[in-house]
Amino acid sequence: MIELKNVSKTYFSKANGSDTGAVHALKNADLYIPKGTIHGVIGLSGAGKSTLIRCVNLLERPTEGSVTVNGQEMTRLNAQELNRARHRIGMIFQHFNLLTTRNVFDNIALPLELMGRSKKAIRERVLPLLELVGLSDKTHQFPAQLSGGQKQRVAIARALASEPAVLLCDEATSALDPQTTGSILELLRDINHTLGITILLITHEMEVVKSICHRVSLISDGELVEDAVVGDFFTSPRTQLGREFLNDFLQLAPPKELVNRLQENPGDATHPIVRLTFSGDAVSTPLISQLARECGVDVSILQAKVESIQERTLGLMIAELLGTPEQTQQAMHFLESHQLQIEVLGHVQRDD
Ligand SMILES: Nc1ncnc2c1ncn2[C@@H]1O[C@H](COP(=O)(O)OP(=O)(O)O)[C@@H](O)[C@H]1O
Ligand SMILES: [Mg+2]
Repeated sequence: MIELKNVSKTYFSKANGSDTGAVHALKNADLYIPKGTIHGVIGLSGAGKSTLIRCVNLLERPTEGSVTVNGQEMTRLNAQELNRARHRIGMIFQHFNLLTTRNVFDNIALPLELMGRSKKAIRERVLPLLELVGLSDKTHQFPAQLSGGQKQRVAIARALASEPAVLLCDEATSALDPQTTGSILELLRDINHTLGITILLITHEMEVVKSICHRVSLISDGELVEDAVVGDFFTSPRTQLGREFLNDFLQLAPPKELVNRLQENPGDATHPIVRLTFSGDAVSTPLISQLARECGVDVSILQAKVESIQERTLGLMIAELLGTPEQTQQAMHFLESHQLQIEVLGHVQRDD
C-alpha cells in the first residue's frame, strides 16, 4: 500500500548563486492506494507527476507531509532503513535507465549485487525474471542491441529483482509506439495479477489509464483535483481539465465546417448543436427515437461513438436538434430528465 498525507514539495532553485524563486510542484497531496491495486495519476506536462512519484520512494524528500509505503513512514527512516525500505519499492522510467556497459543479465542482477547476494542466489533470481518478462533468449545482449520495448522489459525485471511490494512507473510507456505500449501494459497487468504487486503509474495518456488502472487521480498544477474509479472518471469527470482529457481521448470534436457556422446566441431561425454524453442505462435505451416521438424534433446525428471502460459503457454524440424553439426546449428537458449530460455547443442557421 501507499499513503500520502498532506504532501507538499517546493523546489527552491538557484541560478548564479541567487534565488530564482520557489516552485510549488506538489501541494497538500492526499492519496491512498490499497495493496494489490493499480492506480494511475494523469496530468499535463509540468503538473507535478514525477515529483509526486519521486516523493513515494523519497528520491525527492517532501517539504511537508507523510509518506507511508508498506506500512512504513518513509520520511522518518534513517539512511540505512531507507535503503532497506527501497528494496520493497521498484521503479521504472520513461527512458529505461539501463547501464549500457552491462548485458541484460547483469543489468537485472545489479540490485542483487548491491544487496550482497551470492552468485548462485543471483542466478536463481534472475533466470525466472528473464522468463517472466519474455527475454530468456537475450540474456547476453547489451542494451544497444535491444528495441525500446525489450529495454523496458529489462528495466521491469531489474525493478522486480529485490521482490518489491510496490512498483512505481514514471511515464513507462511514453517513449514506446502504441503496439509496444500495449504489450508492456499487458506485462504490468500480469505482474499485478500474479504477484499482487501494488502499482502507481503516472502518465499523460488516457489510453494507458483506460487499459490498466483500477483508480485514477488527476493532477493539475501540483494539486490532486480528482480521484475516482476509472469507469466513473471516463463517464463523468468532475473538473474542466478532466473533461478536456476525456474529449481529447474520445476525439469527439465537432467538424470544422460546423464550428465555423456556430453562433453563440439562438435566433428565430436557428437550431441547437448539442454534445450528449450517455452512460449507464441511458446507453441501452432507445432515447433518440423516443425523443423524436415525444418532442416532435428531428435529430440529425453528426458524430457518435461508444466506448467500453471497465464494466461501464460510455456513449457520445454530437447532434443537431431540428424543431421549433418550443420543441427543442422540450427536447433538452427530456434529455436532462434521462440523466444525459448535455452541452450546447452553439446554434446554426436552418438550411431551409
Ligand atoms: N529539481 C527541480 N528543481 C526545480 N524545479 C523543479 C525540479 N523538478 C521539477 N521542477 C518543477 O516542478 C514542476 C513539476 O515538475 P514535474 O514533477 O517534473 O512535472 P511532470 O512530471 O508532471 O511533467 C515543474 O514546474 C518543474 O519545472
Ligand atoms: Mg515527469
